[in-house]
Amino acid sequence: MKILDRLHRLAAAVLAISAAAAVVVALPTPHGDVRAQELPKSQTAQYLPSISDMMIATIQPRHRRLWRAAQQKNWAFAAYELGNLKGAFKRLGQAHPSEHDMSVPAMITSVTDQPFTELASAIQSKDDAGFDKAYADLTDGCNSCHQALNHGVVVIRIPREASTSDQDFTQASP
Ligand code: HEC
Repeated sequence: MKILDRLHRLAAAVLAISAAAAVVVALPTPHGDVRAQELPKSQTAQYLPSISDMMIATIQPRHRRLWRAAQQKNWAFAAYELGNLKGAFKRLGQAHPSEHDMSVPAMITSVTDQPFTELASAIQSKDDAGFDKAYADLTDGCNSCHQALNHGVVVIRIPREASTSDQDFTQASP
C-alpha cells in the first residue's frame, strides 16, 4: 500500500475512534451527570512548566540545534531554528513574568536582542565568522542571566562536537 493511502486510512481510523470516544464521554453517568462536569476545579488545574523545565525542553536544544545547522551551512534551517528559539524565549517570559523580583522578559531582551539581530544577518549573508561571533555573544548572554538570577551553577558553552542525532542537518527536503 502506498504511504499516502496508509496515512489516509490511519486518519480515517483516528477520526472514527475519536468520534466513538466523544460519544462515550458525553454519556451520562449513573447519577445522571456528565462526568467531566463532576471534576472539582482543583483537579483541572493547568500544568505550568518551571523555568528550568522550559530551559532544558525549549531553549537548550534549540541553542544546540542552531549551532549544528550553521556548522553544516544549512542556513535555511538555521534561520528556522533562530525563529523558534526567539519564540521559545518569548513564551518563557510570558509564562514566568518575574523571578527574584526581576522582569524575565526584560532580562531576556537585554541579553538576547543584539545577538539575535546579528545572528539573523549572519545567517542571511551566510557569514560563518559573523555567525560564530554572534553565537558566542548569545552564549555569554545565557550565562549572564544565569549569574544575575543566582543560577551561576548552570554554565552554557559553545558546543564542541556534533552529538549523535536522529536528524539530518545537512540538507532540506525539496
Ligand atoms: C532570563 C534569564 C535567562 C536567560 C536569558 C537564559 N536562562 Fe537558562 N536559566 C535561567 C534560570 C533562572 C534558570 C534556573 C531555573 C531554576 O532552576 O529554577 C536557568 C536554567 C537553565 C538550565 C538548567 C535547567 C536544568 O533543569 O538543569 C539550562 C540548561 C539553561 N538554563 C540553558 C540556557 C541557555 C542555553 C540559554 C541561552 C540560549 C539560557 N539558558 C538563557 C534563566 C535564563
